[in-house]
Amino acid sequence: MVAAATALSSTASAAGDASDRERRMKWWHEARFGMFIHWGLYSVLGRHEWVMENEGIPVAEYEQLAKRFKPKPNAARDWARLAKQAGQKYMVMTTKHHEGFCHFDSKLTGYCAPKQGPGRDLVKEYVEAARGEGMRVGFYYSLMDWHHPDGARCLTDEAARRRFVDYIHGQIRELLTNYGKIDILWYDVAWPLDAKGWESEKMNQMVFQLQPDIIVNNRNKLEGDFTTPEQTITASDRAWESCMTMNDSWGYNRNDDHWKDAKTVVRNLIACSRDTGNYLLNIGPKADGSIPEESVRIMTAVGKWMDRNGKAIYQTEKCQPRRSAFASFTRNGNTLYMHNYFWPGETAAIGGLMTKVRSAKLLASGKEVKFEQDQFRVRFTGLPEKAPDDPVTTIAIELDGEPRQDTDFVRKERPRLKA
Ligand code: GLC
Repeated sequence: MVAAATALSSTASAAGDASDRERRMKWWHEARFGMFIHWGLYSVLGRHEWVMENEGIPVAEYEQLAKRFKPKPNAARDWARLAKQAGQKYMVMTTKHHEGFCHFDSKLTGYCAPKQGPGRDLVKEYVEAARGEGMRVGFYYSLMDWHHPDGARCLTDEAARRRFVDYIHGQIRELLTNYGKIDILWYDVAWPLDAKGWESEKMNQMVFQLQPDIIVNNRNKLEGDFTTPEQTITASDRAWESCMTMNDSWGYNRNDDHWKDAKTVVRNLIACSRDTGNYLLNIGPKADGSIPEESVRIMTAVGKWMDRNGKAIYQTEKCQPRRSAFASFTRNGNTLYMHNYFWPGETAAIGGLMTKVRSAKLLASGKEVKFEQDQFRVRFTGLPEKAPDDPVTTIAIELDGEPRQDTDFVRKERPRLKA
């Protein structure tokens, strides 16, 4: 008992400690690219993961979906295989979304997969599938709960709050006890309570006691280890991860045809990597667990590009230059990667690059690229007329030192014509 108490206080304080955070976050910073999976009873209806609230469906009516939800065995294996092919390094699955249905075996509710239509533990299948493909494993868990009797009245009724917070903490304990090592806990929507009401400090302490290597996000009203810009790429000084849908819905939505193309997804991934953030790209499997064909198509194309260019995405460091009118840059040590969104044709140039270029090549083919450099610009010459890679062509540039761009220098010092 004494030993356990000591372990609790030391890991709890370690969680806030900067060097411990660096240790826990290392793999995540290197990974850059992950798969988000939104799957739930809403997948049966196929009208967005907020369908219960958006359409005002009564709990008693919505609950019936749990019996109709009968996914095929081990659907998560296809997700994990696709994630690996796409070059993703981790996965984050909704273990419980706002609807309140739990994909895991919970002693605290009957509203969970083993006791309903699926008749088995879907979180267990997911964890095994992810591990089988060498993926890091993340759990998404919604604090807001539209199903639990105390999920709303906990705001005004202290007895209800006590029961509800015990339920939520209890489920998080189950998730982090019953499935081995878990790499990420991804909280979502803290409505209707604040950090005090949720007992979020205590929540995180429990999490780090159960899983000393885990990282947590910032959506239980505490800072956590990383911030979570949603549907936007917003760099910040703290660790950040931009989560994004491939169409406009997180959960399966049979009517949503607003798909991003592979080029947009690759560009987004590059933008995250450039600013040393992560990109968490979502799939919304159908009720049977299969992945919508459009998502497979997009991710397969992204994966082919990552096979050739992944080197320029993982383990990147803060980069300068950042972008030009037709390209974005990423950096690894003294290697600068120029990602040409629009292929400039025979010559591609960078102004104000103050570091000496040693060599350059097309990253996809390894083909040498000729260049000329003076103090104001470097020009890569003799390039093919048409973009040699698709959807983005990357030039890998080896430099003498860490690349540095000074466009002011060009503006001021470039010799002017005599008046
Ligand atoms: C938003 C959506 C929610 C989704 C989440 C993912 O909060 O409302 O459905 O799970 O984004 O970040």
